[in-house]
Formats: sequence, structure tokens, C-alpha cells
Amino acid sequence: MRRLPRALLLLRLALLVAEGAPEALVSAPRSLVWGPGLQAAVVLPVRYFYLQAVNSEGQNFTRAPPGQTPFKVVVKSLSPKELVRIHVPKPLDRNDGTFLMRYRMYETANEGLKIEVLYGDEHVAQSPYILKGPVYHEYCECPENPQAWQKTLSCPTKEPQITKDFASFPSINLQQMLNEVPKRFGDERGAVVHYTIVNNHIYRRSLGKYTDFKMFSDEILLSLTRKYKYQVNVDGTVAAYRYPYLMLGDSLVLKQDSPYYEHFYTALEPWKHYVPIKRNLGDLLEKVKWAKENDEEAKKIAKEGQLMARDLLQPHRLYCYYYQVLQKYAERQSSKPEVRDGMELVPQPEDSTAICQCHREKPSREEL
Ligand SMILES: *[C@@H]1O[C@H](CO)[C@@H](O)[C@H](O)[C@H]1NC(C)=O
Repeated sequence: MRRLPRALLLLRLALLVAEGAPEALVSAPRSLVWGPGLQAAVVLPVRYFYLQAVNSEGQNFTRAPPGQTPFKVVVKSLSPKELVRIHVPKPLDRNDGTFLMRYRMYETANEGLKIEVLYGDEHVAQSPYILKGPVYHEYCECPENPQAWQKTLSCPTKEPQITKDFASFPSINLQQMLNEVPKRFGDERGAVVHYTIVNNHIYRRSLGKYTDFKMFSDEILLSLTRKYKYQVNVDGTVAAYRYPYLMLGDSLVLKQDSPYYEHFYTALEPWKHYVPIKRNLGDLLEKVKWAKENDEEAKKIAKEGQLMARDLLQPHRLYCYYYQVLQKYAERQSSKPEVRDGMELVPQPEDSTAICQCHREKPSREEL
């Protein structure tokens, strides 16, 4: 017994050594910066990139670095002659030593952008980053070759969920769908928006009462048609959205077993990225108890889930996903899409900022 305090003291010292590292100072040059917002060609409504704080010994911070010195981003037009309005919100602290940096452009920067990432007065990593122009505004109508576009966004070559979802629809008969879908989903469930995309214009018809979600689908389709040309016809319905936000947080997600899914679920494994619970919630208490008693393991699952979600749910990956769904759908259509009775044109935003000079070569063929 006499020796115990000494053992405890040693243990405490060991812990102090282990915990000592994050107290070291932030090293601006050793910190890491990466992400699509540093590439001119990745056109998104809000551009973003990440920052990992690293200390002077080259170790990653796993919590927000101590002290008052903030990371800061300054985005300017490359040419002093060109005035470009850009909004840069404060970095978003993700509480794990990383930060999300965002900026929104209000017009196209023809010459390009200079992005400075600063810690105090010091440049971080390879800052300043030079994005050679044109750096297009999201509303600029400037279609490009879809292959090039997918490459720029590092779209995954395969989306297993899409392949699976379309497996039972080798061909899609638009006329037949038009006879069946409005009745089944519009009248009975009140939520179908019927879209047709012809010659890069979007037309839609809302069927049923609960179709306000069209503002989201409009936005995605308008954005995609600005980015390349295609003809496709798609009917939209809607699913639940809460889960991804849960996954992005830093707590453990307990996920109810469900016949419904979102496109990224295939990549998530029970007990690796989340803790499964029965559909009838019969084992909820048991699983919560498990999490309490297995704190380390629960934390590990939470972390894995968060990392996976961050990877899968990056904004640009969603555009990839929608593109591939539309592509698959288009391949299967047995007739040409047409603008049908009762459809209205969905206009591109009229914002004067949409006016820009498109320097991309026209895609060589009409897509789809
Ligand atoms: C440090 O963080 C970066 C970015 O989050 C990661 O890619 C890298 O593997 C981390 N390094 C270590 C040693 O954990």
C-alpha cells in the first residue's frame, strides 16, 4: 500500500507527457491546408477548404489550439484592376484541430484569386495560394465537358448505391411513368415534382400539395445545367435528412434500422461508423448502456463515423452523385424527353452577377 501513491504519481507524470504535445505552439508553416476551394476549376456556390493545425513538432492538434491567435483567410482578386466582391466568413472550428474555411464570390474573377491563409501575421502552409483565372462565379452559365467536370471534382468512378438502385429498372418508359407516378405519389402522397430537361432548359410540374422541396431540386438542376449540357427526364421524391448532420457532429450516432436509406449509407458499417438499434427501438436502452460502459470504443465509433461522413458528404460529392443519377436515368429512357402539358420553365437566376464571359470550349457533343 505504501507504494501506491508513488505509482499514481508516475502514472500522472506519464499522462502529462502524453498530453504535453498539444500544448506546443502552432506552427504556421507545418500546418496543413487542402480542399477544393483552392482549385480554380471547382465551381461551387460556397467554396471551401480545410486547415489542420500542426504544432512545432509536426504533430496534429486534435483539439482547437490554445491561445487567442486566430487563423484567418484573406481572398482578393489577383489583379488590382479587377474588383471582385468576396465574402469570407470566420473559419469554422470543428473542435478537433481542424477548421473549415469558406468564401463566397459575388462575381467571376477573370484574372484569378489570391488566397492568403494566415495565423497571426504568418502564412500557413504554402500560403498565398494563387488560383489562375478565370475563377467562375456559381451563376456563370459556362457548360463544360462532363468528363472534365467530374475529374475536377474528383467524383468517384463508381457509386454502388446508384448501380443497385437502378438494377431493377433496366429501361425507363417515360409515358408509362407519366400514367402511373402522378396517381400513386401525387394524389395519394402529395409529393411529386416532375422535371424534364430538354436542350439544357429545365421544366417542371408540381403534383400534390407538399412540393416545397422543389426549391432544393431546382437549385441542384439549375446548377448542373450551368455546368454542362444534357437532356434527361427525372421525377423527384424526397427522403429524410437528419442523419447526415448527426454523422457530421462529434457524438456517437445510434441508428435505427430502417428500410429507407440515403445514397451514402452503403459506405457506413454498423459498429464501425454507428451503433445499430432495432427498428422497434427495443434495444435502445441496452445500446445506450453499452455506449456508457464502453466509452473508448464508443468514442472510436463516433470518430470513424464523423470522418466517413465528412468524406462522403462534402458539397462537391453531392453534385457528383446527382450527376451520376441523372446519367443512369438518361441511359435507361426508352423515349425522348419532352416538355409536357402543364410544365413551366424554371429560369436561371437573373442576378446580374450571372453575366460573365465563358472561356470554356463548348462541349463537343450534346450530352445524353
Ligand atoms: C494529420 O492530419 C492530416 C489531416 O487531417 C492527416 O491527413 C494526417 O494523417 C494526420 N497525421 C497524423 C500523424 O495523424
